[in-house]
Amino acid sequence: MANVAVIGAQWGDEGKGKVVDWLASRADVVVRFQGGHNAGHTLVVGNQVYKLSLLPSGVVNGKLGVIGNGVVIDPEALLGEIDRVRSQGLAVTPANLRIAENAALILPLHPALDRARETARGEHKIGTTGRGIGPAYEDKVARRAIRVADLAEPETLSHKLDELLLHYNTLLAGLGVETFEKQKLLDHLLALAPKILPFAEPLWLRMDELRRAGKRILFEGAQAVMLDVDHGTYPFVTSSNTVAATAASGSGLGPSAVGFVLGIAKAYTTRVGSGPFPTELHDATGQLLGDRGQEFGTVTGRRRRCGWFDAALVRQGVKVGGVHGLALTKLDVLDGLPELKICTGYRIEGALVRHLPAAPGAQAKAAPEYEVMEGWSASTRGARSWADLPAQAVKYVRRIEELVEAPVTLLSTSPEREDTILMKDPFEG
Ligand code: GDP
Ligand code: IMO
Ligand code: MG
Repeated sequence: MANVAVIGAQWGDEGKGKVVDWLASRADVVVRFQGGHNAGHTLVVGNQVYKLSLLPSGVVNGKLGVIGNGVVIDPEALLGEIDRVRSQGLAVTPANLRIAENAALILPLHPALDRARETARGEHKIGTTGRGIGPAYEDKVARRAIRVADLAEPETLSHKLDELLLHYNTLLAGLGVETFEKQKLLDHLLALAPKILPFAEPLWLRMDELRRAGKRILFEGAQAVMLDVDHGTYPFVTSSNTVAATAASGSGLGPSAVGFVLGIAKAYTTRVGSGPFPTELHDATGQLLGDRGQEFGTVTGRRRRCGWFDAALVRQGVKVGGVHGLALTKLDVLDGLPELKICTGYRIEGALVRHLPAAPGAQAKAAPEYEVMEGWSASTRGARSWADLPAQAVKYVRRIEELVEAPVTLLSTSPEREDTILMKDPFEG
């Protein structure tokens, strides 16, 4: 198993960016395969902080970065991000960034509909990032999306815009928001075309070549299993499949290419946006986790909801995500807490269940069953070896391994790249 796929095992923001950045030094290419600029991955390298949304985290390591066909690409957001990281001293050129020519685009009408629908939902809103992700994936499945390769064909753009606008302007007008003019959108796309097209190619060909040459491929997931459109807490999910199986279809490779699946989980739980969260804490401990963990959305700036580690949820994520090993992050945030709770299952109307059921009513009723563990007082922050960890912290990690039914193969003890403990190299399979 020479390749590695990194996916979130909870509700996102587990520290995938940090782990991918750290692993990228051992890889030849880093691939984004789903999601879009709803993702926010923070990388801390020395005194530089990189906040990436669409660019694969490998660009920070000077590795080839590729954006697969499974990603929805907002061309303006991509160019903005390229400019931002360039101003931080990184080179992003067609030599180190490639984009699948068959990826669907996000146009300005997508965030407009995303936001208008959220407003209309009122208190039932999903809490989306407002970046047009849902509408863009809807268009892809509905076979009316404009794709990267279409940018080279003004006539294709023109007739696709007619179909899109028929659909969007009807909806937008119905929701009482401003509609779009075809000529303006066409001019916008034609102006973006020469900036995007140099990065575009039939990516599946390159992926096949890389694979046959024995290059190490690192797949960088966005969002997480519990936000997966099939396996997550539907409808409070994102609009793509986030599980590791998508790494193959989202980059034009067969399923055997995926290799070792590394699930990333925080040592506690957070969530942005609406939806069920059985172990959420509304008390001082929840506040403390949020403050210490600096739990603010990278994309939205919204405060993340915080709670205890939910082993039932992560166990579910491990199974549906196909996780071989877990990377546990932010252990340091738990330093000094006198006791820690781990959710082992839920009580729903008197019955004990070990997974979150699919029906929203049952999810809302799921009351966590906790196991209580003693905390530790010594600091784990910045620990770089297993031997540096207090005995209770080791016990906590071991108990998590038992409950989620997966080994912890990597630990992260600060936002810094090098503050990482490797138990098993995922590239060794
Ligand atoms: P991603 O979306 O999964 O890539 O995660 P984000 O980057 O959105 O959020 C994770 C946050 O936690 C970032 O601010 C990271 O710098 C930070 N982080 C990652 N690992 C650790 C860790 O082990 N300890 C602490 N304290 N912070 C971490
Ligand atoms: P990373 O890759 C956390 C959440 C949104 C909302 C739901 C749907 O940084 O882990 P969308 O805009 O995708 O239609 O919103 O999904 N969400 C995320 N939460 N981390 C993310 O990405 C997320 N991307 C989307 O908050 O609840
Ligand atoms: Mg994030």
